[in-house]
Amino acid sequence: MLDVGICGTDKEIVSFQYGTPPDGSDYLVIGHESLGEVVEVGSGVSKVRTGDLVVTTVRRPCAHPDCVACRSGRQDFCYTGDFTERGIKQQHGYMTELVVEEELYLNPVPANLRKVGVLVEPLTIAEKGLAQLMEIQQRLPWWMKSGPAPKVVVLGAGPVGLLGAMAFVVAGFDVTVYSRTQSHEDKDDVVTAIGAKFIPAETHNVEEMAKAVGRIDVVYEAVGASGLAFDVVKQLGPNGVFIFTGVPGRKGPIEVDTDLIMRDMVLENQLIYGTVNAPPESFAAAIRDMGTFMERWPDAVEKIITGRFPLERALEPLQGNTGGIKNVVSVSQ
Ligand code: BGC
Ligand code: ZN
Repeated sequence: MLDVGICGTDKEIVSFQYGTPPDGSDYLVIGHESLGEVVEVGSGVSKVRTGDLVVTTVRRPCAHPDCVACRSGRQDFCYTGDFTERGIKQQHGYMTELVVEEELYLNPVPANLRKVGVLVEPLTIAEKGLAQLMEIQQRLPWWMKSGPAPKVVVLGAGPVGLLGAMAFVVAGFDVTVYSRTQSHEDKDDVVTAIGAKFIPAETHNVEEMAKAVGRIDVVYEAVGASGLAFDVVKQLGPNGVFIFTGVPGRKGPIEVDTDLIMRDMVLENQLIYGTVNAPPESFAAAIRDMGTFMERWPDAVEKIITGRFPLERALEPLQGNTGGIKNVVSVSQ
């Protein structure tokens, strides 16, 4: 392994709120956002060679013969919940020097993405969401064919939000990122550099944000705050689609204007869906898009990685308050 990214899931695992070790093990090797280099291949392997860079997928299929999703190689849609995930659920992960993996789960990465390849896995979340959006909106015969570019509001400017914003810009959307700026971790710079708009939550409440944007065609949620998300659901435009990617911690109940939301959803043909994990085609799309991002905005992409730590110091970004956008553990050089 070369680099392993740290995300909210890892922080929840190290504070024992999430995650399960493999059966019979009393510990779990974490790490699911990977970039590795192939050091040895078995005799039947044809997809990769020694020296290739690879990103590994996270989820592995359940064993139930009648789970048609897992049996079709789409464990990201597993029906049973008995899938496993490397570094998260019942399988050791990638924050370790050497990993053995099946060819099927490796995604080759071009050598020029060495610095940023570790961002591929978080980008796959957006790629899967985007692929579904494009299929869903085939219900609108003019979608992406005529009229102005659909407007997307990205909620949150963490790695999933910023990488999602980049993917939406590349796909031809009109993108606005709505987020707190906090300590100005270059988030608004990154957004401006990619040709998207930034609306700070400190100066605009949700209504003001919606007014500034105009008709909202898509919301891509990447904050994991349900109260904010449902406030924004109310601002979704006609035929609009709302994509949930965050996994909020379980707090107390909050008040939601359900009559208004249901009325709008029916009277305006709206749709909300959640999306988790990603299939190999989303990894391929993420690797392709990452190449495009690096051609167009190399500085903005590199700015997303705000901290690099050697393996011995991995606990700092996992437990401490290192801040920044994406912290990466450099396992090997
Ligand atoms: C990972 C996904 C995983 C999800 C749920 C996320 O952090 O990126 O691959 O499916 O956590 O465990
Ligand atoms: Zn399954």
